[in-house]
Amino acid sequence: MERMSFTQEIEKRRTFGIISHPDAGKTTLTEKLLLFGGAIQEAGAVKNNKIKKTATSDFMEIERQRGISVATSVLAFYYKDKKINILDTPGHKDIAEDTFRTLTAVDSVIVVIDVAKGVEEQTEKLVEVCRMRHIPMIVFINKLDREGKDAFDLLDEVESKLKLTVTPLSFPLGMGHDFKGIYNIYERNINLFTAESKTKISEGQAFEDLHSRELETLIGDSHATQLREELDLVSGVYPPFDRDAYLEGELQPVFFGSALNNFGVRELLDCFIAIAPSPRPKSAEERLVRPDEPDMTGFVFKIHANMDPKHRDRLAFLKIVSGTFKRNTPYLHIRLNKKLKFSSPNAFFGDKKQIVDTSYPGDIVGLHDTGNFKIGDTLTEGELLHYKGIPSFSPEHFRYINNADPMKSKQLAKGIDQLMDEGVAQLFTLDLNGRKVIGTVGALQYEVIQYRLEHEYGAKCTYEPFPVHKACWVATEDEKSEEYLDFLRVKQKYMAKDKKGQTVFLADSHFSLEMARQKYPSVKFHFTCLLYTSDAADEGVEVEVGGGGGWVLGGGGGGGGGGGGGGG
Ligand code: G4P
Repeated sequence: MERMSFTQEIEKRRTFGIISHPDAGKTTLTEKLLLFGGAIQEAGAVKNNKIKKTATSDFMEIERQRGISVATSVLAFYYKDKKINILDTPGHKDIAEDTFRTLTAVDSVIVVIDVAKGVEEQTEKLVEVCRMRHIPMIVFINKLDREGKDAFDLLDEVESKLKLTVTPLSFPLGMGHDFKGIYNIYERNINLFTAESKTKISEGQAFEDLHSRELETLIGDSHATQLREELDLVSGVYPPFDRDAYLEGELQPVFFGSALNNFGVRELLDCFIAIAPSPRPKSAEERLVRPDEPDMTGFVFKIHANMDPKHRDRLAFLKIVSGTFKRNTPYLHIRLNKKLKFSSPNAFFGDKKQIVDTSYPGDIVGLHDTGNFKIGDTLTEGELLHYKGIPSFSPEHFRYINNADPMKSKQLAKGIDQLMDEGVAQLFTLDLNGRKVIGTVGALQYEVIQYRLEHEYGAKCTYEPFPVHKACWVATEDEKSEEYLDFLRVKQKYMAKDKKGQTVFLADSHFSLEMARQKYPSVKFHFTCLLYTSDAADEGVEVEVGGGGGWVLGGGGGGGGGGGGGGG
C-alpha cells in the first residue's frame, strides 16, 4: 500500500527549469504558471525578483536579487494532481555558473524565445548544455501580441541556431495587431484571443475538422485559408510528435503564445504535465539510480548564503533522486564520511518556505548548513555513491586578487573559500609564486565578490588585471615524460592549480594555446572540468575534451584583454 503511494508520488512530480535570454519573458511565464496552480494570488509576486534596467548599479541589483532569489530558487505548486517544481535558473546579462549547475537538477526544461528577437545568445548557451545532456525541452515562443518574425522562419531559426528538431504543437493565427489566437495542434482545438483573454483563462473550443466552413465564421475568410495552408505545411514539413523522441531529447515540441496576456500558457502547461517526464534515473559514478528505489539518495546542486552577515548559515539545495527524505533522519554525507541529520529541512510551496517531514524524488529540500556542504555533494542512507556533476566551463575573465588589509588575511582566505564553494567564481593559484587568480563567467562578479568579502567576512581585496585567454585543464598519460616536464617548465608562468589541486594552464592567448598544442601533442587541454563533484569521485572521471566543447571555444574573441575586457 505504502509502496503504491510512493510510486504515485514520484509519478506526479514534474521538476523543470525555464531558460531564456533576459527579457524574453521567463519571469512573466513563471508567474502565470504559478497563477494556474493557485500558488500565488496576484501577478507581481515573482516580478520583484527581476533586475530592473533602471537600476543605479548592476551589481547592487545582483545582490538584491540574491536576497529575493532564495524565495524563488524553487517554486512549487500543484496543478491538476501534479506537483510541479520550477527551479529558478538565474538569468541576467551577467550569466553565472549557477544557472548551468541548476540544470543538473531538472528533469526537463521550457525554453522561452521572444518572437521578435528570435534565438539569442544566452538561450544558445543554455540549450547547448541541455542538448548535450539529452534533457527534454519544450519551446515556448512568446510575445505573439507583438509584431515578430514569421512563424516558419522562427522555427527554422530554432532548428539551425539551437540545433534542435522541432514540431509545432500549436500554431498562431496571425501576429501582433492581427493576432487572432492559437490553433492547438496537440488538443485539436482553437483558442481565440479576445479582450477578455487577459483576465479569463479560456479553454479553447474543440475543432477537429479544419475543412469545415465554421472556421470561416470563427476567424474570417483570409485567416481560415491561411491557417489551413499553414497547418498543411506544418504536417508536411515537421515530424509528428513522438513522446519517446521528446523524452530522449531528440524532438522538441513548440508552443506559441503571450505570457503577458496569459494566452497559450494553459495549452503549454496542460501539454507539459501530460508529456514532461517525472523524475528520471540518475547516473552516479557507481551505477544508475532509479527514483523508486527505497533508499534515499540526493545531491546538492546549489548553495545559497544567508544575506544577513550576522547569520553565516547557508541553505544547501538537495535534489532528491531516490527514496523518501525524512526529517531528523541521519544520512551519510559521502565526501565527509559523516552522518548528518536535519531538524528543519525546508520545502517550497509557491514563494514560501516551510519545514517538511517527508519529501520525494524530484523534490528539492533546503538544508541549513554551517559549512558542511559543497556543490556536488551526495547524501545517501549508507551506500557509497557519487552523483556526477555538470562540467564547469573555463571562466571568461581573470584577475589577480590581492589582500588589501593585511590584518584580515584569515578572513579573506575564508571568504574566498566559501564564495568559491557557492560557485560564485573559480580560484586558481599560480605555481610560480602562489598568487591567487579569480576567474569569472561575467565581469560583474568581481564587484559582487569584493562587496561580499567586505560585508560578510570583513575582508578587503583589490584586483589586478591578468591577461588570460582561457583556463585549460591539463592531462597527460605520463607526468614524468620529458615532453610534459618541458611543457611545465616553459609555461611555468602560466601554470596554476584550481581549487581541487588540478593542474591548469592559463593560456594567455589563443595563439599560445595553439602553439602549445602543436609543440606538446601528448599533453591534452580541456576547457571543461568536473569541479563540483565529491572529491572521491574524481579518479577516472572523464573530462570532456575541449575540441568538441562548442561555445566555450567559439566565443574567444576579445578574451585577451584579461580582467576588464572580453565577453560580449
Ligand atoms: P525575463 O524574466 O525573461 O527577463 O523577462 P520578463 O518576464 O521580465 O519580461 C520582459 C519584458 O517583456 C517585460 O516588460 C514583460 O512585461 C514583457 N513581456 C513578457 N511577456 C510578454 C508578452 O507576451 N507580450 C508582451 N508584449 N510583452 C511581454 P518590461 O517592460 O521590461 O517590464 P515590466 O515593466 O512589464 O515589468
